[in-house]
Amino acid sequence: MKFFIDTADLDDIKEIKAMGMCDGVTTNPSLMAKAGRKDTDALLREICAVVQGPVSGEVTALDAEGMVAEGERLAGLDPHMVVKIPTTYEGLKAIAALSGKGIRVNATLVFSVNQALLVAKAGAAYVSPFVGRLDDVGEDGMQLISDIVEVYQNYEYDTEVIVASVRHPMHVVDSALLGADIATIPPQVIRKLVAHPLTDKGLAAFMADWDKLQGGQG
Ligand code: E4P
Repeated sequence: MKFFIDTADLDDIKEIKAMGMCDGVTTNPSLMAKAGRKDTDALLREICAVVQGPVSGEVTALDAEGMVAEGERLAGLDPHMVVKIPTTYEGLKAIAALSGKGIRVNATLVFSVNQALLVAKAGAAYVSPFVGRLDDVGEDGMQLISDIVEVYQNYEYDTEVIVASVRHPMHVVDSALLGADIATIPPQVIRKLVAHPLTDKGLAAFMADWDKLQGGQG
């Protein structure tokens, strides 16, 4: 399973890349606002230079024509750029138009199997179902992933499934068990994945024994 980092924070991206856990990056307008840089095109270019993998930047236009124009501009920033388009009626038109021009699209804000089916038919390279936000309203986010993976397998769609809105380590475990292509994970959740109390306890015991050996006779 590929790990994308769900952030626009360059320092976090560099740190997680150094751990070997950065196959790509996803951003959205909220994450760009959190990064606090108004020169968003420059920031996306800097992220692409570090990541050397797919980097999603989201359009902010709401009409198809505007989305296509913005998508073409975003795609022109760097060969690694992927254009994120919201899954709306207008968004579908933009997904079909941009995909038809060979621009990779990440269909975002997906909350149903039908939306996932439509964006695959429109030619999206990636689909982003938001599991955490579904869990938040009492629905089963991971069930949606399971259903989309099954439907895409039934019809052999090339669209890659990005599990989005990941909130905790179990979302990552379930994504891998269900065979999702990618999980896009916030930096704080990636850091949690490596932690286990028995690892810390075991290491402390090894170090204590090693210190005893170094301090002992013979
Ligand atoms: C996906 O690409 C989105 O950027 C992201 O996963 C949204 O997550 P949130 O629900 O935690 O905002």
